[in-house]
Amino acid sequence: QQDGLAARPPMGWNSWNHFHRNVDDATIRAQAEAMVSTGMRDAGYIYINIDDTWQGTRDAKGNIQPNSKFPDMKALADFVHSKGLKLGIYSSPGTTTCAKFEGSYGHELQDARTYAAWGIDYLKYDLCGLRDQMKAAPTPETANKIMVDSYIKMRDALRSTGRPIVYSLCQYGNDAVWRWGTTVGGNLWRTTGDINDHYARMAEIGFGQAGLSRFAGPGHWNDPDMLEVGNGGMTAEEYRQHMALWAILAAPLLAGNDLTTMTPETIAILTNRDVIAVDQDAAGKQGDRVSAEGPIEIWTKPLADGSKAVGVFNRHPSAMTTQVDFARLGFSGPVKAKDLWLSKDLGTISAPYAVTVPGHGVLFLRVSQ
Ligand code: GLA
Repeated sequence: QQDGLAARPPMGWNSWNHFHRNVDDATIRAQAEAMVSTGMRDAGYIYINIDDTWQGTRDAKGNIQPNSKFPDMKALADFVHSKGLKLGIYSSPGTTTCAKFEGSYGHELQDARTYAAWGIDYLKYDLCGLRDQMKAAPTPETANKIMVDSYIKMRDALRSTGRPIVYSLCQYGNDAVWRWGTTVGGNLWRTTGDINDHYARMAEIGFGQAGLSRFAGPGHWNDPDMLEVGNGGMTAEEYRQHMALWAILAAPLLAGNDLTTMTPETIAILTNRDVIAVDQDAAGKQGDRVSAEGPIEIWTKPLADGSKAVGVFNRHPSAMTTQVDFARLGFSGPVKAKDLWLSKDLGTISAPYAVTVPGHGVLFLRVSQ
């Protein structure tokens, strides 16, 4: 890991979840402007990340060129930087990317230099295109070596540019990436396949992160994929559960919606200062599951000031009543609590604390002794 990079889980926006292939220079500029005007930047969202489909062909010297959707990457980076934001890009260690655009295989150093020259600050490096090579390998061990070596190659290439570039590994948990992600210089690594804008998939991914907390820390984070908040496929209650869970997971907060058409409710979910503070907490500790009883899961995240974020999640579609036993969460006697979604100080509360959590919702508290 380069010194100080991604000391907190990266925050920003990525083009894929909402725009897929329909992304161009104008889209990126509009998102950057909206990032500022909606208050997202000031809430901490800094990276504007271009995902797959920006790539054109290589020139005679092998230098990667953007396709016609992106006439001038350097000018785009300058624009994004002028807004106080940073620009991210996407490639693959294979010959092609997931969407079958040009990958970096055999051109790692050249591509890293090109990115640095453009002013790129973040690279998402997606295994996809290397899969054929891995399948052709004689044993699973050689396949994994091909994968690991390809990530080391790009790590070294990025480092040699001297430009701080966040290194985002994307390989869907392959070979338990959380065990080796740091050794290849990853600042974050995808732990799962792709998210989509449906509650079932978000919950499957989010609650499936139980047990991974010990692998994350400053400079190296588990990445359960980008946010779907505001894309329309879930209710506000479900998006609040999604956002709270990602905050407890110390996950990268990469908005995946169209920032130019957000409702006030979407902005409120994405920019809630107390929720973001849980995600970005200075201790850099990922939270984990404490209990699962039927559809009610309780997760906690230890915070730098000695308090804890406590999420009481209801995975059932209708409201459920439960009791929170703070002794089981590491507290003794009465506790002080704030409800983070209601921005309401609850004062001193005593266990057992009876709560009703809306269907697919979350009671999200910051609790101190
Ligand atoms: C993979 C990644 C996605 C996105 C697409 C682009 O599916 O997991 O996040 O980058 O590729 O093709």
